[in-house]
Amino acid sequence: MKKYIVVTLFFHLVFSQLSAQEVGLNNLYNRPATSLNGIWNYIVDPYENGFYNYRYEPFEDMKISGKGAYFTNAKPTDKSDLVEYDFDKSDTIRVPGDWNTQKEKLFYYEGTIWYKKSFDYHVTRPLNRVFVCFDAVYYEADVYLNGKKLGKHTGGFTPFNFEVTNLLNEKDNFLIVKVDNKRKREGVPTLNADWWNYGGITRDVSLVELPETLIQDYFIQLDPLNNTRISGYVKLNGTTVNQQKVRVKIPELNIDEEILTDNDGTASFAMNHEKIVYWSTENPHLYEVRIQAKEDEIVDQIGFRSIKTLGTKILLNDQPIFLKGISIHEESPFTGGRAHTMDDAKQLLGWARELGCNYVRLAHYPHNENMVRLADQMGILVWEENPVYWTIQWENAETYQNAENQLKELIGRDKNRASVIIWSMANETPSGEARNKFLTRLAETTRSLDPTRLISAAMEQSNFEGNPAIRTISDPFAEVVDILSFNEYIGWYEGLPEKCSEIHWKIDQNKPVIISEFGADAKFGFRGDSLSRWTEEYQEYLYVETLKMISGISQLQGISPWILVDFRSPRRVLPGIQDGYNRKGLISSEGNRKKAFYVLQHYYKDKK
Ligand code: GCU
Repeated sequence: MKKYIVVTLFFHLVFSQLSAQEVGLNNLYNRPATSLNGIWNYIVDPYENGFYNYRYEPFEDMKISGKGAYFTNAKPTDKSDLVEYDFDKSDTIRVPGDWNTQKEKLFYYEGTIWYKKSFDYHVTRPLNRVFVCFDAVYYEADVYLNGKKLGKHTGGFTPFNFEVTNLLNEKDNFLIVKVDNKRKREGVPTLNADWWNYGGITRDVSLVELPETLIQDYFIQLDPLNNTRISGYVKLNGTTVNQQKVRVKIPELNIDEEILTDNDGTASFAMNHEKIVYWSTENPHLYEVRIQAKEDEIVDQIGFRSIKTLGTKILLNDQPIFLKGISIHEESPFTGGRAHTMDDAKQLLGWARELGCNYVRLAHYPHNENMVRLADQMGILVWEENPVYWTIQWENAETYQNAENQLKELIGRDKNRASVIIWSMANETPSGEARNKFLTRLAETTRSLDPTRLISAAMEQSNFEGNPAIRTISDPFAEVVDILSFNEYIGWYEGLPEKCSEIHWKIDQNKPVIISEFGADAKFGFRGDSLSRWTEEYQEYLYVETLKMISGISQLQGISPWILVDFRSPRRVLPGIQDGYNRKGLISSEGNRKKAFYVLQHYYKDKK
């Protein structure tokens, strides 16, 4: 087997640009860690009394914050001392987990809650570095260790971490997090969304200890320009990172390459191999990849595959594929709150597999990493989405920066996952000059960070030249994306299911088309005729009529109907039917399959 180290200009340019991006510590999933999950104390603070003094001045900005600031974890020094809070005597809550479904009094709570965890920590080797790592905190987190501000993170669905090497004590450390889930007009997502505003430390928290020179990030994929070449980069962090030896091993391919880092600590590489077993939905082959640099080593499981479009086709490893999908919200089928465990992922993707899916749309925000790790193992293709949802503030520079940061963190986390094939920029955003620029910038950033995947967004369909009987995609963003995706609700929000038979589709762009949403609400067990709203029969009828209608779209290469499971939403209040749930699930919130489940299952069984 002839091996070449061929550093292609293309990849070197891309990865050197990547290495110029300021990224946090990435790819932590396989790192040994000290978990800080478990029982934390918490204080509900709707007036943010623990953050501002009575003149609404942040305690942080004051030289002496006194004993009012909750992040100092103050204790009375004697019997006369005035301290008006005490974490250790406050109620406790489980981390990870949203607060809404853990505490009845917090079900609708939107505001600030302070979390505190005390712990001892012994650094195992002198000069080692220690990081505190959060897999996600919804929505804004101000983080303090032993009274010192580590930093702030905005965005509720992506990982972040802070170095705490010189701040840790052997005993009695206290980690305090101010969590604020208030919806904000300038937020991403913004004030209005059709899902529950779960707040809290919703995913794992851990301490990761690493050598002084560490592997900060890596990106290892099949080269999109040559499918007999594995290309990528490894980025080091530490005091001496230039001209350092890095080894990349893929034992099963007898690959063991030694490469040198450049001045900013990045080592790019490309290795040719004639016998790569491509990752696919039929054979989701994952290779063990070992990366070593000085005393640091990390092992990952990576699948090598190509995904591209050719005209109106989507090609997986150069073979056309139809994406038999379903949309999924990140809700636990067991607790009803934010999903985060591997068991949650197994249940949700297990249901998708039972439906006959080879693809899922993880809506409308980055789901926890267990979902994409499991999808890698099961051979399920994934659409991941940035929470640019509905009426974002397109003109607000901070809103754009927030959206871009969340997208970078998502790509940073999942860029080595073979199952992830589509980065979605947005969902159902109204076309307009500012929005088009906003989304186009996001798409350009995405392509610069990851040239190996496809870009899409759930757009909206519209009448062709004003004729409601002919539908098309007239969104200017259609020029930017690789895959044309749109949501349509003919038969639910627009007419009755029979209306589907009156609609024709005229899509002129020479690109693949995905219908990213269609569906209808049905309360499980509510039976009647197919025109009685909310019955299982109505939902079933809509699926039958929609599947007939879309067979007329020649470019159609995939669908992800809305949605796998009923999910909580404060917008859905019809007593006896919705009761705080969006009922478009094919499976009820209690796990019962509705009649439409079997319509889609049958369609996928016959679909080639
Ligand atoms: C929209 C939106 C979903 C929403 C769904 C519905 O298309 O994308 O987030 O839940 O319609 O109205 O049920």
